[in-house]
Amino acid sequence: MPSGSSAKKKKSKRKHASRRPVTYVKQNKKAHSEVISTLHNLNKAIESTKANPSLTKAEKEAHIKELQKDVEEAGGIAVYQVASKRGESKHGSFNSAKWVVKTLKKHKVKPASVEEKHLQLLDVGALDENYQKWKSWICATAIDLNPQSPAILQADFLDFKKDVSQVYDVIVLSLVLNFAGDPIIRGKMLKQARRLCKIDGHVLIVLPLPCVKNSRYMTHDLLKEIMVSLGFTCIDSHDSKRLAFMMFKKSAGAAVTHKVFPKKEMKNGVKMNNFTIVIK
Ligand SMILES: C[S@@+](CC[C@H](N)C(=O)[O-])C[C@H]1O[C@@H](n2cnc3c(N)ncnc32)[C@H](O)[C@@H]1O
Repeated sequence: MPSGSSAKKKKSKRKHASRRPVTYVKQNKKAHSEVISTLHNLNKAIESTKANPSLTKAEKEAHIKELQKDVEEAGGIAVYQVASKRGESKHGSFNSAKWVVKTLKKHKVKPASVEEKHLQLLDVGALDENYQKWKSWICATAIDLNPQSPAILQADFLDFKKDVSQVYDVIVLSLVLNFAGDPIIRGKMLKQARRLCKIDGHVLIVLPLPCVKNSRYMTHDLLKEIMVSLGFTCIDSHDSKRLAFMMFKKSAGAAVTHKVFPKKEMKNGVKMNNFTIVIK
């Protein structure tokens, strides 16, 4: 039997729970995902305008200006990131770092050189300092186009460390490839990951599951094939209800084939999306 005071506490907890504004939580969740999807769509529209061969330079500029105005009206990229961060902490509690660390441990990933104590990890598109908890063995560099905290470096991954190569043991691209609206930019991100990854290093990719499961142009296997052509081997892969997780190793002996991967329809269906990655 609960004591009088603990019974009281439980009763008060229940009272609070029943008073909890359920609709508030639901509405917020809806609002966050609406912001995220509006900005994703505007981003995609900007990239497809840039790539539209039937528009003149002036038409492109005018259209992009309009779309950028819409981005600002929707709150801009900062609001998008706050929404993502809130969505992460309040609703999904998804944090790719937990999966990254678990998978690094599973595969006994160590720094490429024996003198190094820490794994050099690059977290691309970081909303937070995600690897602080493991700082005794992971030295993380977090970058983002529009950092939300002073601990994150402001940098475009595509221009990052242009003068050096093979810098990181681990590169994390979590929900970043799908953020870029242009399939060619996504391909460039994968090539950049190859350049910055040490031999025997790893690239870990997280994507929304529909990008590889319900796209006309992309599948799990095609993404693996692209990575193989860039000199990687897939060593771990699984799907959750909403996300696809893949870990690739840059193998010393693997040949880079420089194969071209154009946008190519693989399946079709009315409810399918158009996510793809293009390697030129
Ligand atoms: C959906 S958030 C992903 C956040 C986090 N990695 C996660 O897994 O939840 C995508 C982030 O990638 C960043 N991003 C997109 N392209 C980038 C680039 N080229 N260089 C650096 N950051 C980039 C965006 O600014 C945005 O904050």
